[in-house]
Amino acid sequence: MSSMWGKNIKISIFGESHGKEIGVVIDGIESGFEIDFDKIKKQMDRRKPGQNKLSTSRKEEDIPEIVSGFFEGKTTGTPLCAVIKNKDKKSVDYTQIKDNFRPGHADYTGFIKYKGYNDYRGGGHFSGRLTAPIVFAGAICRQILEKNGIKIVSHIKSIKDIDDDKFDYVNISDNTIQELSEMNFPVINKCVESKMKKEILDARENLDSVGGKIECAVVGIDAGFGSPIFDTIESTISSMMFSIPAVKGIEFGSGFNISSMYGSESNDELFIDDEYNIKSKTNNNGGVIGGITNGMPIVFTVAIKPTPSIAKKQNTINISKIRELEDNINIVSNRENIKNTEIEIKGRHDPCIVQRAVSVVENAVAIAILDIIYDK
Ligand SMILES: Cc1cc2nc3c(=O)[nH]c(=O)nc-3n(C[C@H](O)[C@H](O)[C@H](O)COP(=O)(O)O)c2cc1C
Repeated sequence: MSSMWGKNIKISIFGESHGKEIGVVIDGIESGFEIDFDKIKKQMDRRKPGQNKLSTSRKEEDIPEIVSGFFEGKTTGTPLCAVIKNKDKKSVDYTQIKDNFRPGHADYTGFIKYKGYNDYRGGGHFSGRLTAPIVFAGAICRQILEKNGIKIVSHIKSIKDIDDDKFDYVNISDNTIQELSEMNFPVINKCVESKMKKEILDARENLDSVGGKIECAVVGIDAGFGSPIFDTIESTISSMMFSIPAVKGIEFGSGFNISSMYGSESNDELFIDDEYNIKSKTNNNGGVIGGITNGMPIVFTVAIKPTPSIAKKQNTINISKIRELEDNINIVSNRENIKNTEIEIKGRHDPCIVQRAVSVVENAVAIAILDIIYDK
């Protein structure tokens, strides 16, 4: 499977950045669920492009139109399909990348895999635009989770070398969740916000881009969900996170730092509180032990790379001669027709993906968590 995901909640994403529309089919959503469209709009708007100088100037309304699986205000339980129109397309910006592959983007790998038939405009099916339907699907899953007392929250953990504070892994209060969910640039330590924004704007000014990290928490999930070995909580969440373009790493709890601790430091000691809840004093394991939830918040951090499309001059290859040669493009047997060249990428791009990806990470993990919960 490629653009399909899931065991109990199955989603199939379709479309290209500059095609007519993009969308998603979601199979497995329970019947009779009343969708709150204001909540969906809120999540879609947090990801929407064109909102400020920190993101691409492409303007899209990103209003999903449900075409199946929804009747008289409630889900029917049959496949729920939604389409989102691509309105603000400037495909002329992309003639340059037809034959000159952008370093760091999927122009080269997509060309090889699809033998040159891929829609390269705006990155085609590899575009960050394809995360809009993921957010839509996740925003529905998230509402089902919320009804069951499970909340999702995240913040921008870093932009380049500028760090925010981290979550308190054992106690993420309702107040923190509420506050971060209302911020369009969510950070815990307000002092870092302006420094982070400056870093992004400076990169844009220098025809460059920057990356960063997003820390996310799933709060209120009981112990006992997930499975050992293959279907662990970590593997299910990771598989979903790596479906988000530009995500290049994930850590759970203390992550890679756990390897430099003593066992006496890394072990999360158990206790029972006054209300007879079983908890741990620390949460270095990020709420997951043996692939199964332990009732503590599931905490993970994803690393987002700098936006590949930058205006700065870079080296790449040109394959225009190969396109001229034959219909069934074969780069392997025609290597002598490839030229080294330089590229300065034109068009509208995010100087940093992180701010827009916050909503993508939160709603994508909602799909993964609901999939895990439905397993039980
Ligand atoms: C919300 C979002 C917005 C993105 N915007 C851009 C963009 O404007 N320009 C760009 O080159 N890449 C952008 N990307 C990243 C590319 O889609 C991604 O780097 C590319 O498909 C290669 O995949 P990989 O980085 O996962 O290997 C965006 C990704 C996301 C999630």
